Amino acid sequence: MTILDGKKTSNDLKNEIAEEVKAMKERGEKVPHLAAVLVGNDGASLTYVGSKVRACERIGFESTLIQLPEETTEEELLDHINKLNNNPEIDGYIVQLPLPKHIDEQKVLLAVDPDKDVDGFHPTNFGKMAQDMPVFIPATPFGIMELLKRYNVETSGKHTVVIGRSHIVGRPMSILMSQKGTPGDSTVTLTHSRTKNLEELTKQADIIITALGVPEFLKADMVKDNVTVIDVGITRVPDETKERGYRIAGDVDFAEVSKKADFITPVPGGVGPMTIAMLLKNTLLARARHNE
Ligand code: GUN
Repeated sequence: MTILDGKKTSNDLKNEIAEEVKAMKERGEKVPHLAAVLVGNDGASLTYVGSKVRACERIGFESTLIQLPEETTEEELLDHINKLNNNPEIDGYIVQLPLPKHIDEQKVLLAVDPDKDVDGFHPTNFGKMAQDMPVFIPATPFGIMELLKRYNVETSGKHTVVIGRSHIVGRPMSILMSQKGTPGDSTVTLTHSRTKNLEELTKQADIIITALGVPEFLKADMVKDNVTVIDVGITRVPDETKERGYRIAGDVDFAEVSKKADFITPVPGGVGPMTIAMLLKNTLLARARHNE
C-alpha cells in the first residue's frame, strides 16, 4: 500500500513554482499576484483563505485578501469583482465559496473575468476544459490528477467511480478522468445522492474518488482489493480531546480501507494541500498568459 502524500507532493510543487518566481524576479519581471475575496465569517473558509494567502507569501507571489462582512450585498460584491477584473496588477483571483445565502453564487461566478478565473469555475473555462482545451482547471480536480501522475497510478481502462456531482469537484473530476491521456482514459461512473446501489458500484471500482462530506462513509466492505482511493472529504467533527474542539475527518474509513488499497490519500495531508498548490500553479499560468 502506498500513501499518496499530498503534503510532500504539494511542497515539491511549491518549491518548483518558487524557483520560477525567483527566475522571474531575476529577470526583473512582475511576479504573479493572487487576490482572494472572502465574504462573511465561516470558520472553514477563513482557514482555507488564510492558507492560500500564506502559501503565496512563501513562494514569492503577491497576494491581496479582500475580506467583506456577512451583510455585504450582491451589488457591493459585484462591484469588488468589477474592480478586480479591471485592475492590471491582479493576475488571478478567487471568490471563496460558499457565499452567504442572500448572494446569487452563479451571478457572481459569471461576473469573474475568465482570464483571471484561477479557480476555473466560469462556464467559459469549464467548457474549454470539457472540450479538451483546458485553460484553468479547478484546483481540487487538478491536484488529484497531479497526484495520480506523480505516483504513476495506472488509470487507463480502469473503472473510476466518483462520488459527488458538485461543480467544484465531482463533475470536473468525472470529465478529466474520462479524457484521453495519462492520467485519464478511465471508464467513469459519476454517482450522487440519488444513485441506487452505490455499494455495488464501489465494489467494482478500480479507483474511487469521494467528495461527499460524510465522515468515514466509505467502509472496507464497500471496496475491492487493490483499489485506489482518493478522499476529498474534509469535515469538522466535534472532538473534546482536541484543543480547537474538533478533528478533521475524511469520507473514508482510512484505518480499514487502507488495508485493502494499493494507493490511498490521507486526510489531512492528501488532497487538501494539493488544492492550494494547484491554485498557485493556475496563478502562475495566468501571469504567463497576461505577458503574451
Ligand atoms: N470552497 C471550497 N473549495 C473551494 C475552492 O476550490 N475555491 C473556492 N473559491 N471556494 C471553495
